[in-house]
Amino acid sequence: MRRVAVIGGDGIGPEVISSAIRTLEAVGAPLELVPAEMGLRCNSINGSYLPERTIQTMEATDCCLFGAITSPSTAIAGYRSPLLEVRKRFDLYANVRPSKRLNPRIGLVDLDLVIVRENTEGMYTGLESDIEGGVSLQRIVTERACRRLVRFSIDLCKKKGTRSITCVHKANVLRRSDGLFKRIFYEELEGSGLEANDILVDAAAAALVSKPKDLHCMVTLNLYGDILSDEAAALVGGMGFAPSGNIGERYALFEPVHGSAPDIAGQGIANPIGAILSAAMMLDHLGIKRLGDELRGAVESTLAQGTLTRDAGGDASTEKFTEAVLANLER
Ligand code: NAI
Ligand code: MG
Repeated sequence: MRRVAVIGGDGIGPEVISSAIRTLEAVGAPLELVPAEMGLRCNSINGSYLPERTIQTMEATDCCLFGAITSPSTAIAGYRSPLLEVRKRFDLYANVRPSKRLNPRIGLVDLDLVIVRENTEGMYTGLESDIEGGVSLQRIVTERACRRLVRFSIDLCKKKGTRSITCVHKANVLRRSDGLFKRIFYEELEGSGLEANDILVDAAAAALVSKPKDLHCMVTLNLYGDILSDEAAALVGGMGFAPSGNIGERYALFEPVHGSAPDIAGQGIANPIGAILSAAMMLDHLGIKRLGDELRGAVESTLAQGTLTRDAGGDASTEKFTEAVLANLER
């Protein structure tokens, strides 16, 4: 029995995580689910966005299934996103974001891509300081982070049977920092048996639309991966479709890519696919890929039957869509 911390969070987070849990139960996943809290609502109840109790629950579990949290709308001195805190604290260095078109009627291009994004440094260090007339940010690129990210990506490609891997960077301008990343990429790829190539990040944004078939696995730095993975999600149907995993040596957190969507929260219309596919990625990670495949298969069958949530042009509620997935799991 593997132990999983479950955090719904804010807005539609608890709605989509509840759907994902029902699918996990339906396939009889051998998991002990341990509820925990984080985010804005958690702060209003417990006086903390990330209570020590939640950290302890995570430390006592194998991984976490997480929904989304709402960021405070006004600047709060000293506020740091609890999710960034968790990624840092548990050293969840690789952010894995697959984007696959699940049905020809959904999305804009026929993409089947995984983006592996550096998750601990780059532009997201939070090291901003005042300078004369403005603010300066410390952007960090280390050899250690690049090397382990590239090694992780190579392993992932081998596991998935992906033959080519693309380094996405801006080394023509950021010559030393992105140059370091690019150099390490080619060093690690040497002798790996994978076909290695690289592309500038701006060209990559265009290639996602114009040459989606050429892209299989992109390995990239933090900000680039954040932006390109939202673009990739939009191309295969929208934010509601995108799952992700934040992976470290000792811990992992799985979450839909979308946020708490305050504009539709509480209406029962959120698309739970990103959350269900995140649960499937978690099953893969826990070594029960067969059950992960069952979840993915049931989602694809549901879409093929024409059951779609509103963001995908249908009229199914979260509940109705989830029921349809559960019915497909029973088949
Ligand atoms: P968002 O992803 O929450 O919403 C963007 C748009 O996509 C909205 O129109 C929303 O209705 C729609 N959408 C998102 N998920 C959907 C789903 N499952 N089904 C149907 N429609 C969906 O991003 P936004 O609006 O920029 O941020 C809202 C809040 O979420 C903010 O407080 C932000 O800081 C937070 N956020 C949290 C994240 C996390 O917890 N990992 C990630 C991104 C944003
Ligand atoms: Mg994002």
